[in-house]
Amino acid sequence: MKNNEVHNLLNKLSVKDKIYQLIQLSGQFYQQDDELVTGPQQKLGIAAEAIKNAGSVLNIRGAQELINLQKRNLENSEHAIPMLFMADIINGYETIFPIPLGLGATWNPGLVKEAAAVSAHEAAVSGMHITFSPMVDLVRDPRWGRVMESTGEDSFLNSVFAQAFVEGYQGDMNPDKNIVACVKHFAGYGAPEGGREYNTVDMSERTFREYYLPAYKAALDAGAKMMMTSFNTVDGIPATANEWLNRSVLRDEWKFDGLLISDYAAVKELVDHGVAQDDKEAAALALKAGVDIDMMTSVYANNLESLVAEDEELSALLDEAVLRVLKLKNELGLFESPFRGADAEAEKRVVFSDEHRALAKQVAQESLVLLKNQNELLPLGDSVGKIALIGPYADTKSLSGMWSFSNRKEETTTLKEAFLEVFPEDELFVSLGCPMIEADFLKDSFGSYHAAESTQFDEEKELVEALAYAKEANVVVMAVGEHYLQSGEGGSRAKLTLPEVQQKLIQAIKELGKPIVGVVFSGRPLDLRIELQQFDALIEAWYPGTEGARAIVDTLTGKVNPSGRLSMSFPYEVGQVPVHYNEFSTGRPYEGSGHSKRFTSRYIDAPNKPLFPFGYGLSYADFEYSDLQLSGTKLTAESSITVSITVKNVGKYTGKETVQLYIRDLVGSVVRPVKELKGFKQVSIMPGEATTVSFELSEEMLRFHRADMLYASEMGEFQVMVGRNSEDLLTGSFTLAAKVES
Ligand code: NOJ
Repeated sequence: MKNNEVHNLLNKLSVKDKIYQLIQLSGQFYQQDDELVTGPQQKLGIAAEAIKNAGSVLNIRGAQELINLQKRNLENSEHAIPMLFMADIINGYETIFPIPLGLGATWNPGLVKEAAAVSAHEAAVSGMHITFSPMVDLVRDPRWGRVMESTGEDSFLNSVFAQAFVEGYQGDMNPDKNIVACVKHFAGYGAPEGGREYNTVDMSERTFREYYLPAYKAALDAGAKMMMTSFNTVDGIPATANEWLNRSVLRDEWKFDGLLISDYAAVKELVDHGVAQDDKEAAALALKAGVDIDMMTSVYANNLESLVAEDEELSALLDEAVLRVLKLKNELGLFESPFRGADAEAEKRVVFSDEHRALAKQVAQESLVLLKNQNELLPLGDSVGKIALIGPYADTKSLSGMWSFSNRKEETTTLKEAFLEVFPEDELFVSLGCPMIEADFLKDSFGSYHAAESTQFDEEKELVEALAYAKEANVVVMAVGEHYLQSGEGGSRAKLTLPEVQQKLIQAIKELGKPIVGVVFSGRPLDLRIELQQFDALIEAWYPGTEGARAIVDTLTGKVNPSGRLSMSFPYEVGQVPVHYNEFSTGRPYEGSGHSKRFTSRYIDAPNKPLFPFGYGLSYADFEYSDLQLSGTKLTAESSITVSITVKNVGKYTGKETVQLYIRDLVGSVVRPVKELKGFKQVSIMPGEATTVSFELSEEMLRFHRADMLYASEMGEFQVMVGRNSEDLLTGSFTLAAKVES
């Protein structure tokens, strides 16, 4: 359809028809069975006409199902406007990749782009148009359950991944292969007070712009066509009603002309927030703020008609919102081809294909982070002999995290199965040893999700068996971790330890004195202080997805050398939180202050440093860094400085190293962070070989929101640091000779 035809279509629509385009309901409203529809309809208080004509549907799946629904919609609606189908395709459609925090740990945006392209391909042939991904919220507080959906604590790294996701999903918008990326949650959702889900977010505009906003902007610069508001407040005003955020920043400053959708029920929640007196006011606030689609409430459906009748300004805003919906439908080609990529035959061929599973395995391999390897216990040699695989993750298919709704769980390989593919059956002893989590906790905390879990477990018998197996074995592999529902949406925790039942099991096994390899599954950085002492080797496995178990076994055996690096600090304990590498310089730093230790910025009962810092991760190879060189020491707007370093593999195995570049601005008009990541490169190095890794430093990399709020650099002295993680770095210095305004 040509652009002017879209305008013509808009002009033909009645106010009611227009409003329908702004309504999004979930798949349950479109079941064939009337009873299934009536329940949700009554709960939402929405008219049958509105359901029939709603412009978009969320979380419904399957090519044939979507073709049928689209057909019914076109037959029933006066203007034959196709529906949009959207879903949460977060770390895969049916082929499941590691959770985003694991994707972040790959530090490999090229690979993440490939993973996103696979998810898009599977979703497109299954009839999907839009994914509610990527979530680019910056996260510094592992108490928040949704850190699993983020790529981590750094705005630069998050921006690089934001771009990778968007390019992977959207590609060149081939109807059979690509879908639209809806970036979320705009904005600052990753910083709820106390790490408590849906809680207040409150921070300075400088921090907001400097750290939290860049990844959303990067996603839009990469071409993302859609954005979702967040549940939280921004400077006291919920994002979904925030005109400054959604109009001044998003539309005016950033020139975004794509679609803005509310998060689930967020428009109605303006009433609960207490910024709207009733639904009608909530509708007016959201529309004024620029929210085009109301996800899963009846607020737009039931109130916009009277609002636009009373207020001409709102009537113009209604048209604006509807036009954006129609334009996106047109961009997707739906007017000409309403089923787009949906193809039940292609779906069978493409979804969960061998190639996709192979990629999922590679991504999982690269997401694993080796945190400890004492006495080179890993990799397990050919002569390892008897292995006891113990722990509640030893034989479970729950390896994909909370957001894998289309997950083919039954086809996910368990660790036990993956071990048996490699190790002889008579040398492998498998026991769960304890339940995943205490039965009471399950009942109290997971609500309706609890039904899916079995609480039948003979704890005593399992423990006796596990201890007997461990006694027999030469090495024990302990597969432990959080229950997968302890992270994800609604998964905030005040404690960051493993479930108590698992802690007890680990201690009992430890007392046998066998070498232990710990494999930890989690959706967040955990407090692993105690386990770090108990395990001789430790691997963070996140929720690694469909092929995760095989990736773990490949890593344990050394078929694959681990290369993952943390994109979020692991706290020493929960009281340190938020703990992140790029903290501000304080007036009384712990090291280098003129004050006695007592009166420096520190805890008297815990270290300042996290247990594992940002960028950390070991390899079976051993890398040595030397010879940091700068091509010059004076940087200007026109010139750059080449920073290079030699990295040598002095170990026995070929390995991939992630070389990281940080800077520090020593004096600024506002306090600057002690370190800022500005670049990274991955290099594969063979034993005995050395390679030179170089980065170009430019003035642009030194810009920040200055005291005058201008985003620009300031002349002066800088440090440049290169190394293996945010703590272990070689340092040089340079000067920025001329300031540049932007
Ligand atoms: C609420 C979540 O916050 C959001 O991330 C998700 O996309 C929507 N629900 C839709 O499922």
